[in-house]
Amino acid sequence: MKRKHFIQTFSATALGTALLPQSVHADTLANAGKPPKGKKSPEYIVPQTPGVSAAPHNEVFWGAVAKNFTRPEGFINLENGYFSHQPQGTLRFHNDAETTINTQTSHFMRTAQTQAIEAARTTFAEFQGLMPEEVAFTRNTTESLNIVIMGTQWQPGDEVILGDQDYGSMVEAFQQAVARWTIRLNVAEVPMHPNSDAEIIRAYTSLITPRTKMLHLTQMVNLTGQLIPVVAITREAKRINPNIFVVVDAAHSLAHTPLDLWELRNAGVDAIGGSLHKWLCNPIGVGFLFMKQKNIREIWPLMGDISAERTDIRKFEHQGTRPIDSLQTIAKAIEFHRLIGSANKYNRLTYLKLLWIGNKQALETFGKGLGILNDPQYQANMNAVTNLTVFDSFKLQSPLLPFSRGGAIATAALNGYTPSELAQTLMSKFGIFTVGIDHPVVRGVRVTPHLSSSASDCIALNKAFTALCVDLIPHLEPQKN
Ligand SMILES: Cc1ncc(COP(=O)(O)O)c(C=O)c1O
Repeated sequence: MKRKHFIQTFSATALGTALLPQSVHADTLANAGKPPKGKKSPEYIVPQTPGVSAAPHNEVFWGAVAKNFTRPEGFINLENGYFSHQPQGTLRFHNDAETTINTQTSHFMRTAQTQAIEAARTTFAEFQGLMPEEVAFTRNTTESLNIVIMGTQWQPGDEVILGDQDYGSMVEAFQQAVARWTIRLNVAEVPMHPNSDAEIIRAYTSLITPRTKMLHLTQMVNLTGQLIPVVAITREAKRINPNIFVVVDAAHSLAHTPLDLWELRNAGVDAIGGSLHKWLCNPIGVGFLFMKQKNIREIWPLMGDISAERTDIRKFEHQGTRPIDSLQTIAKAIEFHRLIGSANKYNRLTYLKLLWIGNKQALETFGKGLGILNDPQYQANMNAVTNLTVFDSFKLQSPLLPFSRGGAIATAALNGYTPSELAQTLMSKFGIFTVGIDHPVVRGVRVTPHLSSSASDCIALNKAFTALCVDLIPHLEPQKN
């Protein structure tokens, strides 16, 4: 990702639309995301008033955005990496769409289903600057990437390069492929605090051999939030061996970072899988699989399908009966994302992360880059937090600088606590929900703020960590006999 992205306002749509083929019908686009007959499309609360700035520390703007979401009672949720809750407007739209299908039942499925799927396909493709004929809908990233991994025509001895922090389900899928086809896995050790992109690129490309058939890249590592430079790695891998099939796990990066999928496609990426129920805030159970047209013929679908042409992306979508209302809602979820803006969202989420970590150098660099460093509110929040990175006992497991290497997610460990003890302590003593990560490479609690989080949530977490570091609050209650 270009370093400047964190300070730019970025119009993905304008760039993306230019790539749309002539065959996209205007009426298909126009019908996408329309509410059911007789229903008004629910509205979102996003201040569009000139003068109300979307600067990441402006709680007037972000407080209004947060009001779109229903927060849980009784605790602060800073574990939003699993999936995103939907804004009320999206939830209502989805409920209405579900009600319509629940009323029309098979009449809807037999007369309107195909059109609804195609409208969703066109809308999502346009959103990301892709061609609809290269986009399939799945249930989630796991399914999308399993289609690629299990559908590849492997030969014994073929090699795959993957990362040591890739998501467990993908690692298991590759391990199963090893058992089935005797392929070989070469695992790149991805540096957690790299000095340069070149270090990360080398970690992958140094493993390329003449037998490398596939390179699997996780764009945003779920364990640490680290963004890896998929564009640069892909370009270098293809320069070394143009036949390597590059597949990207975009579960956490879609609608989180300002990088759109067309940029990955242009760099030479062959396939991408992602989930729309994460940062796009769509209802649970919709994923996508992008695949370059030239590759579709050679990959087998997971579900038997001989009715679609071998070259038709739709062959990957043979799921049986499925919730079309969730596909219909994609356009509404995109509407919310666009009202906020990709760069604004990325900057806000990065800001919330920086705030709970409290590192002054990072906060100052960030504030300076956006021209808000001297704003009284920015200063007040910065002064309200303690720099946790000065404590010996606090071990940050995520890159802080440059900002193009992260977003919302960061993980930290505390000496003397196992990851689950730390997560338990934050919840029981401070009412803050996080998740313990116990992985061979990363151990700590993962913290993921959301658009529904406030600056004060992150300040509360900072104070909790400070108390644990400074006041030496015993981390385990004395055992009661
Ligand atoms: C990097 C990464 N890949 C894949 C997945 C799986 O996503 P899903 O459960 O939507 O299939 C996740 C889930 O958190 C993830 O973080």
